[in-house]
Amino acid sequence: MHRGLFILCTTGGLLFASGAPAAVPTRDQLVAADYQKGRTAFQQRCSACHTLAEGGSNLVGPNLWGLIGRKAGASPDFAASEALRSAGFEWDVARVWAFLAGPEQLVPGNRMLIPEPVPEADRTALMSFMLLETGAADWPRPAAATADQKVDRTKPLSERYPSFYNHLMTNTTRYRMETPDGEVRFDTYFNADGSVSSSEKSIRGFWNTVERRGMEFFCYALDGIPGKPSQLVECFPIAAMAIPRFAEQLWTSKPVEGVTLHGGIMAGRP
Ligand code: HEC
Repeated sequence: MHRGLFILCTTGGLLFASGAPAAVPTRDQLVAADYQKGRTAFQQRCSACHTLAEGGSNLVGPNLWGLIGRKAGASPDFAASEALRSAGFEWDVARVWAFLAGPEQLVPGNRMLIPEPVPEADRTALMSFMLLETGAADWPRPAAATADQKVDRTKPLSERYPSFYNHLMTNTTRYRMETPDGEVRFDTYFNADGSVSSSEKSIRGFWNTVERRGMEFFCYALDGIPGKPSQLVECFPIAAMAIPRFAEQLWTSKPVEGVTLHGGIMAGRP
């Protein structure tokens, strides 16, 4: 389908509008790129499925810390598709650039579904932001990155992120924890007063938000889980949950060695 579209464009005289593929940006262009623009593009286009920071959770897609120089599909603790794992290359700037222009063209059969390629107008800035935030840039973060870190946090979460807040406070968060001793399932309910209650009477918890590198994270702690571990602490970038979604399995993490925790959100509460 993509190929057909391309032929149509070129023969239709739209070659200049749709463009020959944009050249991979030079290091100078990446250093000079607009950090804010890159961050916004990442938050809108990628953060629903990926985190960047070291130790970040795998969401639908893998955490991208340390991507450059790593083999495709080899992100730790993420079950990448056979297509991605057998692509057989190591990620470099040119490969990521091509992947963002057309994931399916670079790695046919991979499982990353994005609604459209990243437009050329955003791609250099996004690329630069990703390199900075995944530990691959050999230049410093621009001053602008830290200058606007002071988000107006005087307003309550419910006003700053209304759709995220309503989604979490009115629905059920469902867990399935795979441990060597068997599977533990429980539901939790995040409450407006900062507490977390559960379908399991023994479970208690609380939640709050923290800010790091200009991004806001939703963090929570649970205690009294009938299994090992009996306690959990997890943090998610709020932007990653900007699009409210329902599914039994939305994210996966490894709270401790040998244990896999699956989380999802189900509509409503009992
Ligand atoms: C709808 C969810 C989704 C969105 C949105 C998304 N990705 Fe992905 N991404 C995935 C999945 C799933 C994979 C693993 C694909 C596979 O295993 O075939 C992946 C894989 C990748 C990989 C390869 C990782 C590796 O270890 O080889 C890169 C790089 C990547 N994504 C970057 C991005 C960027 C940058 C954006 C934003 C423009 C983005 N993704 C948007 C789901 C997504």
